[in-house]
Amino acid sequence: MKKTVKFTETVLRDANQSLIATRMAFDEFEPILSELDNAGYYSLECWGGATFDSCLRYLNEDPWERLRKIKKACPKTPLQMLLRGQNLLGYKHYPDDVVRMFVRKSVENGIDIIRIFDALNDIRNIEVAVDETLKCGAIASGCICYTISPIHNLESYVKLAKEIEALGVQSICVKDMAGIMSPKEAYDLVTALKKEIKVPIVIHTHNTTGLGPMTLMKAVEAGADVIDTAISCFSGGTSQPPTETLVYALREMGYEISVKEDVAKKINDFFKPVRAKYLANGLLNPVVMGNATDALIYQVPGGMLSNLVAQLTAQKALDKLDAVLLEVPKVRKDLGYPPLVTPMSQMVGVQATVNVLTGGRYKNVSKEIKAYVKGEYGRAPGKIDPEVQKLVLGDEKPITQRYADLLEPGFEKAKRELGERAHSDEDVLSYIAFPAQAEAFFEKRDRKEDDNEIHFSIREVK
Ligand code: CO
Repeated sequence: MKKTVKFTETVLRDANQSLIATRMAFDEFEPILSELDNAGYYSLECWGGATFDSCLRYLNEDPWERLRKIKKACPKTPLQMLLRGQNLLGYKHYPDDVVRMFVRKSVENGIDIIRIFDALNDIRNIEVAVDETLKCGAIASGCICYTISPIHNLESYVKLAKEIEALGVQSICVKDMAGIMSPKEAYDLVTALKKEIKVPIVIHTHNTTGLGPMTLMKAVEAGADVIDTAISCFSGGTSQPPTETLVYALREMGYEISVKEDVAKKINDFFKPVRAKYLANGLLNPVVMGNATDALIYQVPGGMLSNLVAQLTAQKALDKLDAVLLEVPKVRKDLGYPPLVTPMSQMVGVQATVNVLTGGRYKNVSKEIKAYVKGEYGRAPGKIDPEVQKLVLGDEKPITQRYADLLEPGFEKAKRELGERAHSDEDVLSYIAFPAQAEAFFEKRDRKEDDNEIHFSIREVK
């Protein structure tokens, strides 16, 4: 029997987020939703990550309504979202009642698959979201956040994957959010996982360095079951590898693939003018669609490297770039080798820069680094250097328990705070996730409703 490879299309979420800062409005992609539903994808990644924030902050859209509308237009294909475990869609920890309510409402409003990760791979930060996803009858996909360090290896990843599988997830996703996984690493990792893990393996990468299509192909050769790709005109660079290219190459190699080429072409033709619009208005920078291979030399993610260059340029200290790049791995080691993904990549980058520019290591420490060393982000993957811990925390003791266990329940409190401004429990969750943006959105919405009422009564009088 032919081996099947399934495709998750990311154009509505990760491609949109990675290339144009999630600015694509619902109305822009609405006309193509039925074709996306017909294309034969395993799933459509369409929600979570930055879509929620962007809807409220920039697009004046209710993110929950967006989800319901996508579900209505795409009844056949499972809808997928990305969830940052105990952090939901942001970087702070929420109490368990909020996490459970968020998951429940996501499923009620149309989500079928929730991909759940923690940036530090602290399994305590994903277990509640996984548990609630399963209780709601949706598919929970547990993530391994991929990184490269002396303490991350095949053995540690397989151990982590087994722990995640034991939570009851229906698939394990290798999430290479920094786009640094090479074809060989992918092959070796998937081979190792396939020996020990029974549930399907999903591979998520970014094409930042140009390795993406090779990495996906080697992962498939090693037995990966699902790959993430983006329709070609929203693929490449900091986005995912191209859907049609992978469909073509893998089908030719004999894999069974349900994505229909003619429908994929229609979808791509639809998005061409959308891309042209974002190229013209400058939101899509052609540079991010190309290959950035410096990350291969410096072993830091592409996005982090450009941040460092920007920071040093602003400080008129670009000549210190080499010194900072030497300092980055040292800071990372001091902090127990956190994966270099948001927000850790920024935190480590800033600390390395400050260490170099002030000429004294940890003389100045950000409050984020302090919170991390204290244990407020979760457990560091490795051991935090005891001397650095003392420098950062002084006599304060680090937290060893799960941070969310220290938090008071939050949903009912937020509901009371909002009062009539919230029209639904979904509104309360929007407010908890992004208070300022949600309040501004509610205000605009109420004003619009008032206007409608006035028009209505005028007509009545006439
Ligand atoms: Co991603």
